[in-house]
Amino acid sequence: MNSLFLRRLTLILVGVVVILLFGIAVKAVVIKFQRPINDEPTQIVEVENEPDNEPEVTDNSESPDMNENNEVEVEVETEIEEEPVPVVPPGNEIETETENEVEPEVVVTPEIEQEPLYYENTSFFMESRMDRYKTYAQNNPSFSAAEVVLKVNMNLDYDFYTHIVEIEVPDDLLVLCNKFNQLPSDFTPKNLEEVPIEYHVSDGKVYDLDRDALNAFIEMSNHAKEEGISLKIISAYRSNEFQAYLYNKYNTNNGEKNADRYSARPGHSEHETGLAIDINDVSQAFEDTKAFAWLQENAHDYGYILRYPKNMEMITGYMYEPWHYRYVGTETATIIKSEKLTFDAYYAMYILPGNNR
Ligand code: DAL
Ligand code: ZN
Repeated sequence: MNSLFLRRLTLILVGVVVILLFGIAVKAVVIKFQRPINDEPTQIVEVENEPDNEPEVTDNSESPDMNENNEVEVEVETEIEEEPVPVVPPGNEIETETENEVEPEVVVTPEIEQEPLYYENTSFFMESRMDRYKTYAQNNPSFSAAEVVLKVNMNLDYDFYTHIVEIEVPDDLLVLCNKFNQLPSDFTPKNLEEVPIEYHVSDGKVYDLDRDALNAFIEMSNHAKEEGISLKIISAYRSNEFQAYLYNKYNTNNGEKNADRYSARPGHSEHETGLAIDINDVSQAFEDTKAFAWLQENAHDYGYILRYPKNMEMITGYMYEPWHYRYVGTETATIIKSEKLTFDAYYAMYILPGNNR
C-alpha cells in the first residue's frame, strides 16, 4: 500500500510541477506578447510629443519671420548691392542728363544761331589780339575762326570783372559800359534832365536822364499811349554812390554770384551813363505784357535797344532783363535789332578802336 501510495504521490507532484512549469511557460509567452502593448503608451507619448514639436514647426513657420527678416536683410542688402549695378548704366545716363542740364550754360548755341552772318565775317580782326585769338581757339576747338575773333573782341576769353579798363570818353552816345569797361568814379553825365512826372511811375522820386534819351523816350511813350500802351520810367540815371548802395545790398542779401547776375558793380552800370532806363516793371513777368511786345516791335524806331536779351548772359554778363533799355540812337538800334546783336557784339564789330572794319 505504501508503495502504491508513494507512486501516486510522486505522480501527483510531477503533475503539479508540470502544471507549474506550463503555467510559467504560458505566462512567459503572455508577457512576451504584452510588451508591444505596453510600448504603445510610449508611442502615444511620442505622438503627444509630436504635437509639441508641431508648434515648434509652427514656431519655425513664425521663425521664418525671423528668417525672412534675415532674408529681407539679405535681400535688402542684395537690393542695395544690386541697385548700384543697374544704377551704373543709368548713372552714365544721369551724367548725360547732367550734361543736358549744363546745356543752358552752353547757351552758345542760340547765340550762334542768332549771329550767323557775323561769325562768317572776320573783317573786325585785330592784329594786336592775335595771341589771344590763338589761345582762345586752342581752348575752344569747335569755334570757327570768325567766332573766335568776335568773342575775343568782346573780351570773352577773360573772366568778367578782370582786365578792366577805364572808359576814355564816357559821354559818348555809343559808350560801352560793361563788366570790362568801367566809368571813372567821379563821372557825371553832362546833359542830364529831369524826367517829367507823367513819364515816370508815381513814387515821389526824381528821375534824371540824358536829354536826347529823354526826348526819345517821351516821343516813344506818347506814340505807345496812342495805341493804348503805357510806358513809364521806373529807373533812370544813377550816381556811382547809388549804384554802389544797390549792388552792396544785393550782394549782402543774395551773395556776390547772384548779385553779379542782375546788378552792376559801381562804375559798371549803364544807368550811370544817363542813357539807360528801366520801364514799367522790374520783373521777368514784364516779358508777358503788351508793353513789352510793343517795345519789341517799336523801340528801335526811337533809338532804344533791349540791352540784356534772353540767352545772352554769357556775352552781356547779366541775366535776361526785359525791362532794361539803352538809348543808342535809331541808326545803331535798327542795326542791332535787324541783325539780332547784343550791344557788346555791335561794339566789338563796329566801334572797337583798332578794329579793321
Ligand atoms: N541791372 C543792371 C545790370 C544794372 O545794375 O545796371
Ligand atoms: Zn536797368
